[in-house]
Amino acid sequence: MTIFTATAHTNIALIKYWGKSADEGNLPATGSLSLTLDRFFTTTSLEAIDAPLDQFYLNDTLADLKHSLRVSQHLDFMRTLASRKERFLIRSRNHVPTSAGLASSASGFAALTLAASRALKLELGAKELSRIARRGSGSAARSFFAGFTLMHGGPQIDDEGAFAEPIKAEITSNLRMVVVQCAQGPKAIGSREAMKLTEQSSVFYQAFLANHSSLLNRAVAAAKKGDFEELGSCMEQSTLQMHATMLGCPEPFWYLNATTLSVMDEVKALRRGGVPCYFTMDAGPHVKVLCMAEDANRVEQHLGCIDGVSKITACASGPAAYAHD
Ligand code: PMV
Repeated sequence: MTIFTATAHTNIALIKYWGKSADEGNLPATGSLSLTLDRFFTTTSLEAIDAPLDQFYLNDTLADLKHSLRVSQHLDFMRTLASRKERFLIRSRNHVPTSAGLASSASGFAALTLAASRALKLELGAKELSRIARRGSGSAARSFFAGFTLMHGGPQIDDEGAFAEPIKAEITSNLRMVVVQCAQGPKAIGSREAMKLTEQSSVFYQAFLANHSSLLNRAVAAAKKGDFEELGSCMEQSTLQMHATMLGCPEPFWYLNATTLSVMDEVKALRRGGVPCYFTMDAGPHVKVLCMAEDANRVEQHLGCIDGVSKITACASGPAAYAHD
C-alpha cells in the first residue's frame, strides 16, 4: 500500500485570530498575521485501509474519541470533495507539545490536509489547501507558507475569501522567535470553546473586533517596511486585547499564569535596557518573544533564569508545508 506523508511547521500569530464570523466552514471573525517557525512541526502519514472507520494514532498512541472524530470529520470533507470513500490509517507525530497553546493544531491540520490531498488525488495549490485546512483549525491555514503569512477574515468573509497568503518581508531572516514554555501539560480549555465563550459573553469582544483591522494593517505594513518596533508594538497590543476579552466574560477565565507575567515583565525590562523584543501569548500560558537574531542569545539567557520556565527554544522563520513524495 502506498503511504502519503507530509510535514507542516507551526506558526505563531503576531496579530490574532479570535472568534468566528460563522461556525459553518470555521470562518474567522478577524484576519491574522503569523510567522511560521523552523523548530516545531508535525509529520503525518496516511495509508488506505480496508476498515469501516479511520484509525488515528497521535505520537504512536491510538487517539481518544474527540481527537479521532475531529480528524475523521476533516477527512470526510476531503473525501466528499474527491468523491472517494476509502478509510485511512493516520499516523501523526508532533514535534511540538500537543494541545498546549503552542500551535500543534496548526501544524497538525496542515500536515493532515496536505497528506490527505495526495492520498485522495486532489490536485490543489497552497491557497486551496489553506482554505480546506482552515475548516479543521483556523490557524492551520497559515502553515502552508514560509515566514510571514496573512490570513483573511472578518465579518463579511466567505469560504472563497478565507484563505492565507505569504507576505514578502526582507526583515524575516533577521528575526527570531524565542518560545518560552511556562507550564507543562495540555491547556484546561480549548481555543474553540474559549472563542465561543468570549464571542457570546465578553463585554470587551466588540472592542477587540473594532480595533483589530487597524492593528492588522499597521503590522503588515511594518513587516513589509522592516519597522521592527512598530511590528512588535502591534503584536503586544493584539495579544493583550485578545486575552482581555476573556477577562470580560461574566465567568472570567485566563490562560496566563504567574510565570507568564514574570516573562512579560522581563521582556519589558530587556527593552528598557536597549534590547528590542516583544511578547505574544496564545491559548496557553507560554510566551513567544520576537527579537532580532543578534539578540536571541541574550533574550534566551535572561528569560531562561525565570522561576517556572520549563524550556526555551529560539526559532527562526520556518518553511512552507511540504509533501515527502
Ligand atoms: O486555530 P485555532 O482554532 O487553534 O485558534 C488559534 C487561536 C490563537 O492561537 C489564539 C490565535 C491565532 O491566530 O493563532
